[in-house]
Amino acid sequence: MTSMDWDTLLVAARDIVTRSYSPYSHYPVGAAAWTTDGRVLSGCNVENASFGLTLCAECSLVSALAASGGGRLARFTCVNAAGDIITPCGRCRQLLYEFGGSELEILSPLGVVALADMLPQAFGPADMGIAVASEEVSHG
Ligand code: THU
Repeated sequence: MTSMDWDTLLVAARDIVTRSYSPYSHYPVGAAAWTTDGRVLSGCNVENASFGLTLCAECSLVSALAASGGGRLARFTCVNAAGDIITPCGRCRQLLYEFGGSELEILSPLGVVALADMLPQAFGPADMGIAVASEEVSHG
């Protein structure tokens, strides 16, 4: 069992932020997470000429989650180009809720908080009658 330390996530996020494609906003973002089964995933933002179609770093991260076998997120953080911890945007809080739920721990500028504190009364899979496995890898 891994310790799921925050330093590992900060190193991963500060590494992948350098690979951001953000020629429009000039605001690179790097995100990283521990899965409940001890994997470290990361992602960066990828923009395009149609601004509204930008892929946030969290989109890349949850794609990496699915591509690496699925499962659940346990801990998350994201950083800007300077390596400073930032908070996930509103849309991405919803993305994180889908794959981490209310208990997902987030290293924020104010310290470690639960996703429930950043997205109170979240609408999610349960409201759609969808059961999400809490631990095991989930396919399809
Ligand atoms: N961005 C993210 O990648 N994640 C967030 O949670 C905040 C915003 C990106 C989107 C866009 O490429 C740039 O930061 C400026 O908004």
